[in-house]
Amino acid sequence: MSDVSIYRADFPVLRETMNGRPLSYLDTASSAQKPSIVLESMRDIIEHYYANVHRGLYHFSQVSTRSFENVRGKVADFIGGQEREIVFTRNTTESINLVAQAYGRTFLKAEDEIILSEMEHHANIVPWQILRDQIGIVIKTIPVTDDGMLEVSALNHLLTDRTRFVSLTHISNALGTINPVKDIVTRVKSHRDDIMVLIDGSQAVVHARVDVADIGCDFYVFTGHKLYGPTGVGVLWGRYDVLESMPPYQGGGDMIDSVSFNRTTYKSAPYKFEAGTPAIIQVIGLGAAIDYLRVIGMEDVSAHEMKLYQYAMDGLSSVQGLTFHGSAPHKAAIISFNASWAHRSDIAMILDKSGVAVRTGHHCCMPLMSRLGVDGTVRVSIGLYTNTQDIDECIKGIKKAKDMLS
Ligand code: ALA
Repeated sequence: MSDVSIYRADFPVLRETMNGRPLSYLDTASSAQKPSIVLESMRDIIEHYYANVHRGLYHFSQVSTRSFENVRGKVADFIGGQEREIVFTRNTTESINLVAQAYGRTFLKAEDEIILSEMEHHANIVPWQILRDQIGIVIKTIPVTDDGMLEVSALNHLLTDRTRFVSLTHISNALGTINPVKDIVTRVKSHRDDIMVLIDGSQAVVHARVDVADIGCDFYVFTGHKLYGPTGVGVLWGRYDVLESMPPYQGGGDMIDSVSFNRTTYKSAPYKFEAGTPAIIQVIGLGAAIDYLRVIGMEDVSAHEMKLYQYAMDGLSSVQGLTFHGSAPHKAAIISFNASWAHRSDIAMILDKSGVAVRTGHHCCMPLMSRLGVDGTVRVSIGLYTNTQDIDECIKGIKKAKDMLS
């Protein structure tokens, strides 16, 4: 990756101040800032050729449709899937709800077992609990170690004759732990090759190159807004034969072949899962974000983030009284901690006054927080535009908080 200042210049918001201080944005795991190319791509369609997609024979509708559909190919190339396997959704949450309802309600039955993990985001817990309440499946969980890693050996007893589905995060949003998803898929499939595996890649696609074929999973989901793209668009990748076997999730316009009051027939995947007018502008913005990342190269993004992660860990380790949560050997650039000398919210408020944005709280992972014996953490997350000055400001702010509060 070239000098990070070149990339910072692509993100207009990084020129802003917050509370009168230069912005140090360390909350990229929550939502990434957007480069100009994404904003311009969305403005371009709105100003020059906006029309609904798949519906008009006129020129603008054809151009909009082409621009929208091109993104399916870009997403497929980005994660190693096929174009027809890419379903556009609203976000990761909707992608998982779609699978839980369309696959789960069709193919799972009472007493069937599914396996999640203790480190899942609520988006990969609650949809399955809703399904449990609807049809009576049993939810089991892979435990998390004190270091914040999955206790993968627990699969020895968790996998049974009744296991039908496994749904796991690739990278923990709260701790940064990178899970050995390929090994887990291999293990699950060797137990029974018809157990479906979904991987939540929300934090993984943004940090490193992902190849769904290599992982060997059946579904892979992520969201656009963490990938330097707009809000309102997410992706469900599914193996085509599995997608084709599933009924639609929602009904409406654009997902049908023909409708009469007696009988309606549906399009093939992915279109049967995209009822109604899709997020046309946001999908095009997502395509621009992927173009942007491909020019930089995910390997370079990852190398830059890990350099900054080490820099941040070196600095934070010099602050007395911090307890770090999650010390897996394979981690993404996410740091979670608590201080013995103050509540995390007070630290975050002092950081805010210093222009430093971090997330505090349970990070939508309440079961993980319970497992770690805390009710939340301060989380510093690093993106492709993070520089050493951001980290220095953060450490300065934490030291100031310590002076004021301890
Ligand atoms: N899932 C997002 C986060 O980790 C919102 O902050």
